[in-house]
Amino acid sequence: MPRMSTSDAHSRPLRKLRISITDRCNLRCAYCMPAEEYRWLPKQELLSFEEIERLARIVRELGVREVRLTGGEPLLRRDVEELVMRLANLGFDKLAMTTNGMFLADHVDELRAAGMTSVTVSLDTLRPGRFERLTRRTGLDRTLDGIRAAVAAGFERPKINTVVMRGFNDDEIFDMLEFAHEVGAEPRFIEYMDVGGATDWSASDVVSRREILERVHARYGTPEPLVGRGAAPAERFELPTGQRFGIIASTTMPFCGACDRARLVADGRFFTCLYSRSGVDLRSLLRSEATDDDIRDLIAGVWRERTDRGAEKRLELAARSPLASRAELASDPHLEMHTRGG
Ligand code: GTP
Ligand code: 5AD
Ligand code: SF4
Repeated sequence: MPRMSTSDAHSRPLRKLRISITDRCNLRCAYCMPAEEYRWLPKQELLSFEEIERLARIVRELGVREVRLTGGEPLLRRDVEELVMRLANLGFDKLAMTTNGMFLADHVDELRAAGMTSVTVSLDTLRPGRFERLTRRTGLDRTLDGIRAAVAAGFERPKINTVVMRGFNDDEIFDMLEFAHEVGAEPRFIEYMDVGGATDWSASDVVSRREILERVHARYGTPEPLVGRGAAPAERFELPTGQRFGIIASTTMPFCGACDRARLVADGRFFTCLYSRSGVDLRSLLRSEATDDDIRDLIAGVWRERTDRGAEKRLELAARSPLASRAELASDPHLEMHTRGG
């Protein structure tokens, strides 16, 4: 089957797939998993590696060029390297992972050997006490070691994702830039988003793109925008020092107009927007008599009808509050950021 391009109702092509391979996480970050208890997706409902590979092959034929594995924490899924190898064999331009980095040092050589092309590590603070308060777990050093191990394994400039929250870590922007420079990584500052799971979100805790740029400017000089962003969430800048960094401004300056990504949840639910209320159940289809052509036609049809611009719609709201209440999240775990894969 030749590769084609599949565009939605706003002419946005389907080019990227984020695959969440587990909804479980070993951390409990306050902006993502603040609750005490979670209802996990039942194990038997998770897609097998064969099923994920089959879907990846199908979406590749529809034009998907890049795949990112996410979670929860993707390295909690056993034998993840085997999945990476299967996906690498399909021939994507990019095969990446977003991880909290705590198990990265143990896996990084095998991931690279299996064909992973890049890694992004979530790291919000460099201070152990803050790390414990934010994540309700210990182990900041393991994340830092994970980043260093990724560089040592040959991943060129792994990315570091830092969600900036007012009064919590907004005094660490310079420290993060300097840490990233020292280890050979590229930092990206993310605006705190009012997604599912962020039940404690409030607009006053958001440190905007503008404010981040102003602070960086005052310290290092003018950050020059780098061209060639494409449809990436991150805008990249270069400082007079030569250091590059990114800003992901989903909250104050959404990028839905160029959004070319779909999301596959670990149990096979397919979403066309980070903020979608409902998705399509591909697992039942995979476990039925449906042929690859049937599944391809269904996914293509869903994408062609797509009109999503979730983050832009949030921006239009007169008063913003968390996307979903704790009760709603408890009744539908698919609304959770950690289930949906970030
Ligand atoms: P690429 O696959 O290289 O484009 O990576 P990425 O930057 O999208 O991935 P990453 O997992 O590092 O996500 C960084 C931040 O951007 C997270 O906070 C994500 O939730 C957010 N993000 C990623 N994709 C989208 C998106 O399509 N829409 C919105 N609103 N936010 C997104
Ligand atoms: N706001 C912004 N980013 C978030 N992430 C998770 N929850 C939020 C939120 N409420 C980020 C994680 C990770 C990425 C996949 O999504 O920090 O880097
Ligand atoms: Fe894409 Fe939805 Fe994110 Fe907008 S909010 S960029 S449409 S995933």
